[in-house]
Amino acid sequence: MRGEEPGIIAAATQARKKTDDAFRHQTDNPAMGVRLEWDGKPKQVERISLPFQTVETINESRATRERDEGSLLRGDGMRDDSWRNLLIWGDNKLVMSSLLKEFAGHIKLVYIDPPFDTGTDFSFRVDVGDDILTKAPSILEEHAYRDTWRGGRSSYLAMMYVRIVLIHELLSDDGALYLHCAPNVSHYLKVVCDEIFGADRALAEIVWKRVSGHGDAKRWSPVHEVILCYTKSSNFVWNPPREALTDEYAEGKYVNDDGDGRGPYQLDNITSPNPRPNMTYEWQGYPSPPKGWRYSLATMNELDAEGRIHKPTDKTKRPRLKRYLEENEGRLVDDVWTDIPPVNSQALERSGYDTQKPLALLDRIIETATNSGDLVADLFCGSGTTAVAAERLDRRWIACDLGRFAIHTTRKRLLNIPDCQPFEIRNLGSYERQRWRQESGNGALRGYLDTILAFYRAESIEGFQHLHGRKAGRMVHIGATDAPVTIDEAEEVMDELADNGIESCDILGWEWEMGLHDTIGERARRRGLDVRTLQIPREVMERTVQEADAVRFFELAYVDLDVRRQRQEGKVVLKDFAIPSEDLIPPQVREQITRWSDLIDYWSVDFDHGDGVFHNEWQAYRTKAVPVLATESDWHEYPKVGTYAIVVKIIDIFGNDTTKLAEVTIK
Ligand SMILES: C[S@@+](CC[C@H](N)C(=O)[O-])C[C@H]1O[C@@H](n2cnc3c(N)ncnc32)[C@H](O)[C@@H]1O
Repeated sequence: MRGEEPGIIAAATQARKKTDDAFRHQTDNPAMGVRLEWDGKPKQVERISLPFQTVETINESRATRERDEGSLLRGDGMRDDSWRNLLIWGDNKLVMSSLLKEFAGHIKLVYIDPPFDTGTDFSFRVDVGDDILTKAPSILEEHAYRDTWRGGRSSYLAMMYVRIVLIHELLSDDGALYLHCAPNVSHYLKVVCDEIFGADRALAEIVWKRVSGHGDAKRWSPVHEVILCYTKSSNFVWNPPREALTDEYAEGKYVNDDGDGRGPYQLDNITSPNPRPNMTYEWQGYPSPPKGWRYSLATMNELDAEGRIHKPTDKTKRPRLKRYLEENEGRLVDDVWTDIPPVNSQALERSGYDTQKPLALLDRIIETATNSGDLVADLFCGSGTTAVAAERLDRRWIACDLGRFAIHTTRKRLLNIPDCQPFEIRNLGSYERQRWRQESGNGALRGYLDTILAFYRAESIEGFQHLHGRKAGRMVHIGATDAPVTIDEAEEVMDELADNGIESCDILGWEWEMGLHDTIGERARRRGLDVRTLQIPREVMERTVQEADAVRFFELAYVDLDVRRQRQEGKVVLKDFAIPSEDLIPPQVREQITRWSDLIDYWSVDFDHGDGVFHNEWQAYRTKAVPVLATESDWHEYPKVGTYAIVVKIIDIFGNDTTKLAEVTIK
């Protein structure tokens, strides 16, 4: 076990933990009048600032990267042009408190759509093969928010309370929160938001009619969801939202056309609704209406000169104003939205994420509450709808989710946008794991090892230096939370196995030294040992040991590839891919796999890996339009002779990452 330093994090946490006085003042203030109390309501909100790690850059040109690497301003993206949109993998509580340092008071719009029921928010569908869509079976479904609901509404509200306090702090003075929820929790959340934002900052409760009636015999059909909207101050961004006219409406109303290129128009009244003595005059032989005209004589003449007044030949009839369809910006939208349908099963935008919201919904919110270039955040981003809408509308964005499938789905949806701006995938890496160790009482080494062993359903053993447990006759070694498992570490494990006449061992790790997986199996075989490497899933940080059944340790996948070279160029050709934990692949999925590439959902290549961050320079994935996965990359041109490290990242249909290191020499 290497590099375990829980003390450092403990000290940092203590130092940064502070009670929010302003917030306490607000909650204790009798002038607040009404507020919600419940068992377990948080008394304070911790603000722990952990450093982010960039794990991947996407769509960033080498030139930009090299320029920004030398820039002192890098990292202070709020003020320079090195800004990158951010997709962050982690628990949003820790993510938000870590964002405060750089972003407090800078985010113009936060939209969140937190899980609001104990339903199937974490289920997803996988594309297996070229075109078959399969509902993922239950073992693949994630239930991370079971924890949230363990204590019923009170634990849910406690979870939300802390997040809303942090969101309030992240918002700019002219910013707004749009909180999407269901009617079973909206009334509680409204009182919570009243407390944190102030009841006078409640801008709207939007009702979104999501589906049509189910025709329930003994209840009102539940067809709507709620979007609570709070602003940070009375001065907020507001671009009046308009609903586009339907074709049916336009065709029914705009029935005239003079053929002068101005298009269809409808005729509108130009008489005054109230008596206007100063606008009572005869106009071009038409007698004044009893209450006068709507416009002054000068305006009438101007409108006439523009050809905008329809003049009946019969002077006893009234002239009327021509209103052109082209000038109609649409109806101002109110707080009941019935014009945005849910994402249906055939929709092109559908990502396979059950709770995916329609882009049109996010477009409307983002266009109303922000301007081009503003920063938008979604801390429960799911399939990434907010990030996709923000990207297409030329806003900057930060998106976060704790599910690996959510991060993966969001990345793919973004890559599908033509000219998507560069973005980074970040996490809190080892810091988040150390934080989890501390919070879950696993700070002490043995406690940590025993917790992982319990999740792995292995028994704890004593008396060895590197062997920590045993499962079905195999030894178990567990990697540290704050460092990758290294090749040297694996060799030490093998030495201890050999010294004790033991043949088999499972090495469980959070992260792996690059290239370890390619060499360890072979080295073990040469020593007559059977060593497997398995990924400790992130989910153990969100579960209790009692839920170990829902947690799967996947064996690292097997990848075979070739690197080809011609002149100054190199390319990668995938030759094979296998998931050793075949028993974890549900039979229905297994039956549909006809070739190894069916198991791959996405792969990408960093052609010149150097600084520890994976720079995605080429990628392939299936889309609805092109369901066939390419297994050869494009040619990549190298500017100079030399030997380059190539890293290939493969994400399988279960959302697991595998990386493989290769080399190319350009002569
Ligand atoms: C209802 S879904 C969001 C769907 C999204 N609006 C869309 O259009 O796809 C809720 C998401 O919240 C995520 N989530 C739940 N608890 C979280 C937490 N503590 N931190 C970050 N994400 C969380 C889940 O992983 C899930 O993807």
